[in-house]
Amino acid sequence: MSTTEGTSANRNSEGASSKLWGGRFSGETDALVDQFNASIDFDRRLYREDIAGSIAHASMLARQRVISEGDRDAIVAGLEQIQREIEAGTFEFRLDREDIHLNIEAVLTERIGDAGRRLHTGRSRNDQVATDTRLFVRAACDETASLLRSLRGALIDLAEREAETVIPGYTHLQRAQPILLAHHLLAYEAMFTRDTERFAQARARANVLPLGAGALAGVTYPIDREFVAQQLGFERISENSLDAVSDRDFVVDYHSAAALTAVHLSRLSEELILWASAEFGFARMDDRYSTGSSIMPQKKNPDVAELARGKSARVIGNLVQALTMLKGQPLAYNKDNQEDKESLFDSVDTILITLRVVTAMMPTMTFDADRGRAAALANFALATDVADYLAKKGVPFREAHEAVGALVARCERDGQTFEDLTLEDFRAAHPAFEADVQAIDVDAALAARDVPGGTAPGRVREAREAARARLERERAG
Ligand code: ARG
Repeated sequence: MSTTEGTSANRNSEGASSKLWGGRFSGETDALVDQFNASIDFDRRLYREDIAGSIAHASMLARQRVISEGDRDAIVAGLEQIQREIEAGTFEFRLDREDIHLNIEAVLTERIGDAGRRLHTGRSRNDQVATDTRLFVRAACDETASLLRSLRGALIDLAEREAETVIPGYTHLQRAQPILLAHHLLAYEAMFTRDTERFAQARARANVLPLGAGALAGVTYPIDREFVAQQLGFERISENSLDAVSDRDFVVDYHSAAALTAVHLSRLSEELILWASAEFGFARMDDRYSTGSSIMPQKKNPDVAELARGKSARVIGNLVQALTMLKGQPLAYNKDNQEDKESLFDSVDTILITLRVVTAMMPTMTFDADRGRAAALANFALATDVADYLAKKGVPFREAHEAVGALVARCERDGQTFEDLTLEDFRAAHPAFEADVQAIDVDAALAARDVPGGTAPGRVREAREAARARLERERAG
């Protein structure tokens, strides 16, 4: 499509505007304005939603005897033919026809004449585009939620495969206490479960029919909005016509759920990148999900995880763009709202491909269980357990904390670990220590955290099974 195409071709013999809305205009828009105003390059993606909305609208108009059944049949057949041509790639989109709505209507009218000119009775592009966008967001929410479920399935599978693998848990990125890798993976499963709920909520808010609001104030025909809602699968109809044409909160809801999902994907990716580094060395990435360096022959780079982390920036940016687009708008529809689409499409596309690739990568990750276990023991990761040991013998916890802290300082000074200490060393730190202190090890530390939500192996197994059952319930509908 040429960017300047249309200016002269648009002019009819009287020199009046050739636009579908051109009645009160005596000249053409500037070619640069056509280019600036047009959204067809991106909103053509809404052709299916637009055609479905128009078919529902025309069917309703015929039922209400606003148009004839003959006109309705011509409109429906014409729109179905246009849809086939768009899908075959043979439909000609024209920049001078501005957007998807006018491109379809103009071709329909060229082909079926007055019936095509009657389609827009009792409708405005304002309620039309709001309807199309809601249909799009509703489907996007479903697809995103479905891919989130796949990722959760992959995390649960990995938690099952790595049921025995131990790693250090961190706070402040300092080794803190031993945990099961499965527990760590299931923490991400919990985040993605909340994300799935958010997309279900976003879907419910999008699932409201704006059509019938007209340009802003409602329409003068005896329309049946409930019928149109039912035809398009909307849960209910909008309650205020001004709000219906100007509301893009449902777009923000998608962005907002997507931004948080992107943040979760970014955090997970960051973990994988750290774990795959020589410094951590807990995980290895499969060749299929890594790339090499063009100069350093030894390199294996976690590009997929890095891109998943990096792409969160644009999804967050798109949320901010949508909010900022809305903030200065008086009621009702303003052309600003045309700017809702590119960022929406970008976030949908970005989230979907990121979910797909991260889900595919998860089962290819391998873990070095020996290294994880060694790291889980190192750096006095059992110090809390040693303090808890004293507290369970009746020593006030703060006193126990103090005594074990002093023991850690002593070991650090002497280059020792707890495993190097004799019972006498322990007793010198606090008289309540007895021989069984030397039974505290990584497995004992894990097993001791036997509370709901804790990292004890039995609890993690239960949590994993509960997560799997919840996922299967969701999938069953
Ligand atoms: N392309 C426009 C949009 O995306 C369609 C609605 C235009 N309405 C209007 N009155 N100009 O918002």
